[in-house]
Amino acid sequence: MKTACIVLAAGLGTRMNSDLPKVLHRICGTPMIQSVLNSVKALKVERVVVVAGENVGKIKESVQSPGVLFALQPRAMGTGDAVRCALPLIGDFRGDVLVLNGDTPLVMPDTIRKFLNLHRKDRNALSVLSFKASDPSAYGRILRDSSGEIQAIIEDRDATPLQKEIGEVNSGLYALRSDALPLVGRIRLNRSKGEYYLTDIISAALRGKMKTSAYLIGNEEEFMGVNTREELRRASDVMRRRIISRWAKKGVDFLDARSVFIDYDSSIGRDTIIYPNVHIEGRTNIGGKCTVYPNVRILDSEVGKGVVIKDSTLIEDARIGDRASVGPFAHIRPGSEIGREARIGNFVELKKTVVGKGSKASHLSYLGDAKIGSGVNIGAGTITCNYDGEKKHATSIGDGVFVGSDSQLVAPVRVGKGAYVGAGSTITMDVPAGALAISRGRQKNVRGWVRRRSKLKSMKAGEKETDKKD
Ligand code: UD1
Ligand code: CA
Repeated sequence: MKTACIVLAAGLGTRMNSDLPKVLHRICGTPMIQSVLNSVKALKVERVVVVAGENVGKIKESVQSPGVLFALQPRAMGTGDAVRCALPLIGDFRGDVLVLNGDTPLVMPDTIRKFLNLHRKDRNALSVLSFKASDPSAYGRILRDSSGEIQAIIEDRDATPLQKEIGEVNSGLYALRSDALPLVGRIRLNRSKGEYYLTDIISAALRGKMKTSAYLIGNEEEFMGVNTREELRRASDVMRRRIISRWAKKGVDFLDARSVFIDYDSSIGRDTIIYPNVHIEGRTNIGGKCTVYPNVRILDSEVGKGVVIKDSTLIEDARIGDRASVGPFAHIRPGSEIGREARIGNFVELKKTVVGKGSKASHLSYLGDAKIGSGVNIGAGTITCNYDGEKKHATSIGDGVFVGSDSQLVAPVRVGKGAYVGAGSTITMDVPAGALAISRGRQKNVRGWVRRRSKLKSMKAGEKETDKKD
């Protein structure tokens, strides 16, 4: 039996109070609609259609799911109308069609699979997944008859006080056999809201004597619909905890799981230790046996094995080799590469800079647009002057170079292999390999100067005293 899938994402999302389409709000770095599509992808379905409104372009751009089709719902006329808009792209598909809400980002593939199996085993034309909600007011209620069969779904705004007491609610996940799809066209306009409710397909199916069931197999947390910022935050926290337990199971040690944030697309290797208040964002991959100390944020970066990232360090779009050490208080900016066993210490900023194997910049440096070889020592306070007010220029430092503290390298400039730069130098010309470059005022010692100065001072003070007496 084949499966197709329709994901509804054309709602206005008014309650988010945002310029961003609701389904593009992110949960652990991933747009909600992408989370739903990830779960759908795991099911290996034949065809996926996303229904979007006027924001269809933005949504298309933001999701990465090759092969997904997009249907336009020109006006948000309700969930029933949204499914109708998807039908032309479902075309002559034969099998079961799943319908999911794009604002239910925590749904998991195993649950969908279980639901679909029940729907098939019972040979239903239409099935819906339900769950018991502690606060059912945000959902449609499942109405059952005395024998327990589903009769209808009633939205909160249309429910009588007695119906509002019902705790069993509609998850928004449905399965329809393709021969039941024409029922969508029989949904009548709901006058109270001026919308076509997909929920009304239940009564339409029953009128048509089609076998219909509601399966109470959902978990409230998993089917949480996100309509407000408050719900977005709650869903994010559920996802955050799921991600942490996933990596904990894979052998990552979290000292305080409550304060660690890891995006869905990031990964961490075995025996890595993560201290409190660490943020691992975007597509970041951290190897095994690393230590990440407190207050570190790593974004879209590759971190090798056995790396130590010390306190309060920010790493963006960079690569860090095995057993390197970075921080505390380092800023590794986009395009930087730190070689194996290299050490980048406190208050060092790197921008688009490659640091070779085993090189060190341990204190207070700015290294931008630089290519630094292996075994290099960059002294404290070294600065690459890479910007002339108009353009950025490159600095190249060969293997084994020693740059003395407080030096400036005025780019474009090259320091050849094994050369030395004397401390406090301003280097404006290339330094040949093996040379010593030094550029600073020659030191002069004025002997006895302090003694002479204090004599002079006391003489002046004496003159002032006599002035006063006069
Ligand atoms: C809907 C269900 C409710 C269920 C709940 C589960 C209806 C009428 N109600 O309520 O029974 O308990 O989901 O979370 O179906 N959408 C469109 N086009 C539209 C309107 C909505 O594509 O014209 C999309 C939205 O983007 C959203 C989904 O459909 O992803 C659900 O819409 P929403 O307005 O959030 O419905 P709920 O009030 O949550
Ligand atoms: Ca919703």
